[in-house]
Amino acid sequence: MDIIRRPRRNRKSENIRRLVRESNVRVDDLIMPLFVKEGNSIREPIPSMPGIFRFSPDELLKECKEIYQLGIPAVVIFPAIPEEKKDPLAKESYNPNGLYPTVLKMIKDHIPELIVITDVAMDPYNSDGHDGVVKNGEILNDETLEILGKMAITQAKAGADIIAPSDMMDGRVGYLRKVLDSEGFINVGILSYTAKYASSFYGPFRDALDSAPRFGDKKTYQMDPANIREALLELELDLEEGADIVMVKPGLPYLDVVREFFQHSPVPVAVYNVSGEYAMVKAASLNGWLDYKKCVMEIMLSFKRAGADMILTYHAKEVAQWLNEV
Ligand code: PBG
Repeated sequence: MDIIRRPRRNRKSENIRRLVRESNVRVDDLIMPLFVKEGNSIREPIPSMPGIFRFSPDELLKECKEIYQLGIPAVVIFPAIPEEKKDPLAKESYNPNGLYPTVLKMIKDHIPELIVITDVAMDPYNSDGHDGVVKNGEILNDETLEILGKMAITQAKAGADIIAPSDMMDGRVGYLRKVLDSEGFINVGILSYTAKYASSFYGPFRDALDSAPRFGDKKTYQMDPANIREALLELELDLEEGADIVMVKPGLPYLDVVREFFQHSPVPVAVYNVSGEYAMVKAASLNGWLDYKKCVMEIMLSFKRAGADMILTYHAKEVAQWLNEV
């Protein structure tokens, strides 16, 4: 056979494959999302996310220590707030003695080197379940920013290293940068949920926090899954407004957006492998239909190949354990 180019030569053994491998997954790339709720000695399983728990603060601290010991550089924390502390203006979100700031302080006191990323959004605290202030069925943009500003300052005072606005209000990155700077928090970073889509893959997360919108959907603020040029507009705005890291969310169904960000963003790109993506792989492997470890590692690699610098994933702890084994 007269075949000159034989790509299989570079695949013929594990060692040649190691030499020519273009992307790698490292523990350094991982960020573990965690859920916290009030109480003591609680590790409450989330039925739609087997293996993931709502932790009381004491248990969360233990979990963070394990995560830190595995070499994972960062965690992002989400609070489950009891219904009676929710209201239409999310006031609990900037209560300096509330669950969330208390937990942030505790983690930073005990594990100062672990990067703590906070969630800036009203939905866990909002009796309407939306990421913004609701008036006559409409989500108000600028009124929401003021609340997000108070929330961000409360989190920065409690020791947040990076704040991550996940609300998708217009102008929030610039507004939050200004507010942080005016209070002296010039070194608190902003990881922006730049291209956050109105996705159906957030279902298990909303179960975890009981944060589903009480009416309607999030399509007037989160992006239409059909659009990619619009994601580049969001990228341009977030860069102008001072984002330190830009993120695409969800992950797997939006790898093309990750690639586009990789090509156009001068700042690091994060991807959020969301709750529904976790649930799919977990459920299929619990049924014996997929090899869990191999599928998860392939998914992680796909994020790196697409161009992500870091991955928020509920698989982070397991991935780190596997990587540390070899
Ligand atoms: C809301 C928020 C959501 C997620 C992170 N922050 C859900 C939503 O927009 O309704 C989803 C994360 C996941 O599904 O893992 N501010």
